[in-house]
Amino acid sequence: MKVAEERAPGAPAAEGFIPLCVPELRGNEWKYVKECLDTNWVSSVGTYVDRFEKSVADAVGARCAVATVNGTAALHVALLVAGVEPGDEVLVSTLTFIAPANAIRYVGAWPVFVDAEPRTWQMDPDRVVEFLETGCERRDGELRNRATGRRVRAILPVHILGHPVDMDPIIEAARRFGLAVVEDATESLGATYRGRPVGHLGDVACFSFNGNKILTTGGGGMIVTDREEWARRAKYLTTQAKDDPLEFVHGAVGFNYRLTNVLAAMGVAQMEQLESYVAAKRRIAERYRQAFARTPGISSFGEADWARSTFWMSTILVDREVYGVGSRDLLRLLEERGIQTRPLWEPIHRCRAHEGLCAGPVAVAEQLNRDALTLPCSVGLTEEQQCRVIDGILDAGARRRS
Ligand SMILES: Cc1ncc(COP(=O)(O)O)c(C=O)c1O
Repeated sequence: MKVAEERAPGAPAAEGFIPLCVPELRGNEWKYVKECLDTNWVSSVGTYVDRFEKSVADAVGARCAVATVNGTAALHVALLVAGVEPGDEVLVSTLTFIAPANAIRYVGAWPVFVDAEPRTWQMDPDRVVEFLETGCERRDGELRNRATGRRVRAILPVHILGHPVDMDPIIEAARRFGLAVVEDATESLGATYRGRPVGHLGDVACFSFNGNKILTTGGGGMIVTDREEWARRAKYLTTQAKDDPLEFVHGAVGFNYRLTNVLAAMGVAQMEQLESYVAAKRRIAERYRQAFARTPGISSFGEADWARSTFWMSTILVDREVYGVGSRDLLRLLEERGIQTRPLWEPIHRCRAHEGLCAGPVAVAEQLNRDALTLPCSVGLTEEQQCRVIDGILDAGARRRS
């Protein structure tokens, strides 16, 4: 029985099905959305767009925020305002959802993939520094990749799974080599790095509010930055580069990347609950950690001592040799019990869309892709549901070993 695959979009979940990660709408969402409908402010301007932008900017301590239709659009425009041009190269994590690499290609630039580091699974700062120091050279005042001859323009660290990247060495290297830092913080709203909010560590950062994120507007994104000029440019580019509010005069090729007031209204309501959602995610991760603390072959995704993770996703590593079951077999065994789990992404350097160019070895990302499994972790996951997931995992290992 393939419970997860048999569900048609929009169909009610099968009785007892435990999904991986679904939205939690228990605050003022209805009230604020209704207000938009009642007042006819349903389109891409309105007070909720402004309020949503302000609430995200305030949450990360940034001066400016620009709402976008989704996180991928936010990344596209963030790269443009950061000065990335066709033919440039951008260093990006290889172990992540594919959107940041796609955004790099949208601007005509090339991704250079960086491995994860084994402790936090995030972009490895040592690999970044090593590549910049030994794989690049200065030519005519510009940093160029020795192998390709292309200009290296930016670093795009992705804070995956709710945990921050170790940013200080990356920012230090970016300053030393004159590169922009564009944070992909789409998965980590609410996390902190050495006490500083994720999304306020580089030059510009992006968030996503798609359906599986810690907060959702159904679909949506945000660009945040302290640089007012960059924010103005981002607003301009995301609203069709309109030079005159009345006449149809356009000064550049812009995009229709605006977020509607209706969705922003949802966003405002969701932002009001951010802290309680982070607390719920952290509780769920802690319960898994305790449950598997003495299970040979299962280790939980943790938290560096300099980080406060949101544990947007609760992920385990399954050591097939020790546990007796590999991650994909475990996925199928849990699926038979109506429990949805997911592996981590195929490292992007291996995807046909982007294969190639890496800054050094990428063995850690390969191993994490093979062994990791993300477990149900919706904000609304009940203790009883979580016990079913835990029992399912413990049973699978016990049966194989006996
Ligand atoms: C790391 C990462 N970057 C970018 C995105 C793109 O966000 P969106 O789906 O809102 O376009 C996502 C999620 O979907 C993501 O997980």
